Amino acid sequence: MHIVHTLAELRHVLRHAERPVFVPTMGNLHAGHLALLAQGRPLGDVSVASIFVNRLQFLPHEDFDSYPRTFEADRAALEQAGCDVLFAPREADLYPEPQVYKVAPDPALADLLEGSFRPGFFTGVCTVVMKLFMAVFAGKPHGTAMFGKKDYQQLMVVRGLVRQFALPIDIVAGETQRAEDGLALSSRNRYLSEAERAEALHLSLALRALGRDALAAAHALPAQGPALEAAAQAALAARGWQPDYLTVRRRADLLPPQAGDGAGALVVLGAARLGGTRLIDNLEI
Ligand code: PAF
Repeated sequence: MHIVHTLAELRHVLRHAERPVFVPTMGNLHAGHLALLAQGRPLGDVSVASIFVNRLQFLPHEDFDSYPRTFEADRAALEQAGCDVLFAPREADLYPEPQVYKVAPDPALADLLEGSFRPGFFTGVCTVVMKLFMAVFAGKPHGTAMFGKKDYQQLMVVRGLVRQFALPIDIVAGETQRAEDGLALSSRNRYLSEAERAEALHLSLALRALGRDALAAAHALPAQGPALEAAAQAALAARGWQPDYLTVRRRADLLPPQAGDGAGALVVLGAARLGGTRLIDNLEI
């Protein structure tokens, strides 16, 4: 596996590649990242993973400084998984000057849900994703980039970015990987204490229950959805969580369901804080 830090090094090792497959990450890799790599590798002629904790997508009070940085373990995991190139830029490689040009996503999508609780988050994501795409794919006839469904809204925002800028890149989604008890794998799970880890599966259980209730009320969801969501949030809050949202949305645009939207068209999404850790999850129903 080639390990490169600068754009020039990356372009050099990719000079003969025609169809790179790219897995962007912020490191602290888990089975979800490795599943994306395994799914993506057959789709191109060279696999590239990046590790970069992107300051632009963190709010000042968020966990940029404490975000787990586990480079050696990540490098070993990627090597073992057969990754061809690891791109690990330093901050000065990707942001050699203050990043004043930014990529602003569609507010109709990006200001909802995660965007409403983390203002500017998706602008930070789109800006770094565009820079990473340019680094990996510039001059290539075609590319593939892998994104996990765990960050459902991010996946949709990135699909919109690729569509609107007509980038010759396929965005391929990977299924959420879960621990045995159902907790979605996430780098932030390592912030959980033992007791919180045992409790954490209740976010996915709450989403499952909300999904069941939503399907049972599918004929009347526009009217009944808000009450179902409020009940789901209250149940989680009663267990000691601080929910940001638990909600039923349309897969197509993440707006509340309209009459006629039913099974196969919906997704339940949730974000909630357990102690000091904010977890997100979702379930297509
Ligand atoms: O999903 C992530 O890990 C990040 O948001 C990404 C896509 C690597 C951009 O920093």
